[in-house]
Amino acid sequence: MCGIVGYIGGEQAAPVLLHGLKRLEYRGYDSAGVAVYNGKAVQVVKSKGRLAVLEGILREEELPGTVGIGHTRWATHGAPSDVNSHPQVSDGGLFAVVHNGIIENYLDIKNHLKRRGVEFVSDTDTEVVAQMLEHYYQGDVLEAIRQVILRVEGSYALGIICASCPEKVYAVRKDSPLIVGLGEGENFIASDVTAILSRTRRVCRLKDGEIAVLEQGRVSFFGPDLEPLEKPAEQVEWDVAAAEKGGYEHFMMKEICEQPEALGKTISPRLREGRVVLDDISLTREEIENFSRVYIVACGTSYHVGAVAKYAFEKLLRLPIEVDVASEFRYRDPVLDERSLVIIISQSGETADTLAALREAKRQGARTLAIVNVVGSTIAAEADDVLYTWAGPEIAVASTKAYSTQLAVIYLIALYMAQETGRLPGEELAGYLKALEALPAQAERCLREKETIQYFASQYFNAHDMYFIGRNVDYAASLEASLKLKEISYIHSEAYTAGELKHGPISLIEEGTLVIAICTCGRLFDKMMSNIREVKARGAVVLGITTEELREKLAQETDCQFCVPATADFMLPSMSILPLQLFAYYAAGMKGCDIDKPRNLAKSVTVE
Ligand code: M6R
Repeated sequence: MCGIVGYIGGEQAAPVLLHGLKRLEYRGYDSAGVAVYNGKAVQVVKSKGRLAVLEGILREEELPGTVGIGHTRWATHGAPSDVNSHPQVSDGGLFAVVHNGIIENYLDIKNHLKRRGVEFVSDTDTEVVAQMLEHYYQGDVLEAIRQVILRVEGSYALGIICASCPEKVYAVRKDSPLIVGLGEGENFIASDVTAILSRTRRVCRLKDGEIAVLEQGRVSFFGPDLEPLEKPAEQVEWDVAAAEKGGYEHFMMKEICEQPEALGKTISPRLREGRVVLDDISLTREEIENFSRVYIVACGTSYHVGAVAKYAFEKLLRLPIEVDVASEFRYRDPVLDERSLVIIISQSGETADTLAALREAKRQGARTLAIVNVVGSTIAAEADDVLYTWAGPEIAVASTKAYSTQLAVIYLIALYMAQETGRLPGEELAGYLKALEALPAQAERCLREKETIQYFASQYFNAHDMYFIGRNVDYAASLEASLKLKEISYIHSEAYTAGELKHGPISLIEEGTLVIAICTCGRLFDKMMSNIREVKARGAVVLGITTEELREKLAQETDCQFCVPATADFMLPSMSILPLQLFAYYAAGMKGCDIDKPRNLAKSVTVE
């Protein structure tokens, strides 16, 4: 959602804030703004539109001062406009606030303050925070913050500056990410580390209810009742270059191409001497044997990893598996107990619905295991166990390398559980581990065929609708392929299980409709061929994604084919998704879409 930064140090704040906001623009990009204390007052420059608009204004307008906060917005309350942009400022100009999250009871508070004569200018929920701060301020900013957090409901990461305490930046959070960066003679706040990586690698992560007070030479931490806290700093290992485009036109293409390396980093340290070694988790053989059911809960692309996981777990463990989108799971009153294993998947580790699902699972006594990319994120911190995907920062809104590495971790967990409980004969396990080990090189090989996919995209990027069909794991991969296409190219697309077409969706097929048929599962190949014939008979043009050994047969029924390397059945989506990520990328590019920042979306969804 929104991105926030704050700076206090020896340099001019505005350029430092802008630099940080550029790294956070993926979180929201409908407006941006900064507030700096200029020696006399808090001065705000903000504007509707991309960060580039703000940058242009700041080239014309002086914004001197070494203390400030900045924001890039994904609108929740109030349309994108200059006045709804952050920072929001209190009536008397004393407080400026940047916010990521949603203040759920903002209308009640707003009406209450209005009755007391406070004048509001924006439609945002954030403005109530600025107004409340001034309302409760009696010479002590920390106490005013305490009063505010006692009264607001919802989620927030807040950066605050105050004209009467101008040598400080204040920060507080609940259910929205916020870190403090510790520099030499300068300190920072940010929604995530990429914003400050070029300045410092030492960070402290605020927990819910914690408050940070940043001064130029020190940072103090307080609990919700203003009790002082000691917080150890941690060192961030991510490389600065990993958060840059490194010569690629888009982060998405860079991240697609990084998949072989990311897969290697995620898989190889966990395969040792013919075994899966998951040192990072504490599950014992007895605990694994005691599980009666596995739940996989996530949103978006991470949920699609769960869709693949269902097949892998059922095949390897013969355990009942339920896969749920987090926004449904959290409110559907799921039946869980201490014999339930709940696997939570999240790239960011901050997705609001996924975090709430994790908390619900814990509340009901289930064992929780998170698969997360961002080290130290809230989901990683709260789950009983965490397995990290070592994908490095994923900046493009459309997830690619996170998907691939999450799949790899799913295979590792399923194989580990099968290995520990002796469910797989040694030879079969060895075969799967070999297949897993081969994935990075196979992905590399597959990605060499970019031009073929670019050509396909050039033939179909003007289509209005497309359909993806598949069976079993090929259907699971279809879900992700369809999401990728629609989110960045805005081409309407649907994914259907191939066998379900005849129960309704086939009425959508007409002369020239493009159907992408994923047919990598040898076991179900003949069934797929029948379904392909059905759509062809109604005029569809069919692009088949398959493996080399099935190509010839597929060529008899489809208009064009693309081959991916063969692997173990349940790992096939790791291959079939690669050309389809490329297809979405090229189609979006040919349509002139903003690939890394698709409309209406944001990378990290920290609101419900
Ligand atoms: O950070 P998370 O994995 O929890 O994010 C979940 C979804 O918001 C995310 O996968 C989203 O669907 C992607 N932008 C899709 O490419």
